[in-house]
Amino acid sequence: MHRAWSLETTGNQHGRVAIVTGANTGLGYETALALAGKGARVTLACRDHDKAETARRRMLLSHPSAQIDVRLIDTGDLDSVRRFADAFTRDHARLDLLINNAGIMITPYFQTAQGFEGQLGVNYLGHFLLTGLLLPLMTRTPGARVLSLYSLAAGWGRIRFDDLHFARKYDPTQAYAQSKLACLMFGLELDKRLRAAGHEAKSVAAHPGFSRSDLSRHLSVPIRAALWAVGPWLLQSGADGALPTLYGALGEDIRGGEAIGPDGRKQRKGAPAVVEPFAEALDQAKRERLWAVSEESCGIGYGF
Ligand SMILES: NC(=O)c1ccc[n+]([C@@H]2O[C@H](COP(=O)([O-])OP(=O)(O)OC[C@H]3O[C@@H](n4cnc5c(N)ncnc54)[C@H](OP(=O)(O)O)[C@@H]3O)[C@@H](O)[C@H]2O)c1
Repeated sequence: MHRAWSLETTGNQHGRVAIVTGANTGLGYETALALAGKGARVTLACRDHDKAETARRRMLLSHPSAQIDVRLIDTGDLDSVRRFADAFTRDHARLDLLINNAGIMITPYFQTAQGFEGQLGVNYLGHFLLTGLLLPLMTRTPGARVLSLYSLAAGWGRIRFDDLHFARKYDPTQAYAQSKLACLMFGLELDKRLRAAGHEAKSVAAHPGFSRSDLSRHLSVPIRAALWAVGPWLLQSGADGALPTLYGALGEDIRGGEAIGPDGRKQRKGAPAVVEPFAEALDQAKRERLWAVSEESCGIGYGF
């Protein structure tokens, strides 16, 4: 009989170092809390110092001896991402887990500091650069893993190579779907390239189904009210929503290159399991094109 992966039976993570972006609330908070509870040294990589510090104190109430640091990063500003990566690399000799979690959903149109469409910039391009800058540290760390958060919304997204930043007509839902499809394609492609280059580090993509968090903050008031009403049936808890990410990060049977999500009906809720990635993310030509565009946009060469 298939037995679901469980956090409780996962061994302690003492001596391991993790970064979780967007860890002050929602799924990032739950992920960081669980990793810190297992003994990993966790950096809460957040854009607001006070919110992050409040989250750190709350985590310490559950795990008083946990090692939790706060560092500032705005994934919507590549200069901020570079400052974060420089300082982290200076201060740490290893990085075992990079959890690319920070995200925004269905926002009004805005541009990031470098002029990218906001959701693509914050959710994907900032993490593409962060991962590239931290990869030298991770490839020196035995058993290191990168986790990329995607979404069921990726299933109806496409990468608009002809108008990546919605210069023509902005569609906030399609922009979210594009950004999350990009995260999934990156998670899979990174693993393929790590294998080809002979690195031991792994890359995994994970999605939380429908989980309670602050992600709906940019939706209209009526839609938020409706979500609140159906929440108990539709949504799983934030702690359960973090389990696909934690399975990808800690599961001993993870080989790299998997997509992970809840195993229930339509992957909305349930225990974490390996799932089939959306077909669009398996298009190798599009993955390579996205990779090349991302390197150019971020001014980084991964070297493979
Ligand atoms: N909840 C779900 O059902 C669901 C479903 C599919 C995928 N996801 C994915 O799960 C991830 C976590 O989302 P969530 O549901 O936990 O949402 P959330 O509660 O809104 O948390 C999002 C986190 O990202 C941070 N963030 C936003 N913009 C940032 C930026 N520019 N720089 C740094 N941090 C930034 C937020 O910080 P502030 O608090 O300072 O804004 C917050 O800590 C996202 O990638 C999302 O796409 C969630």
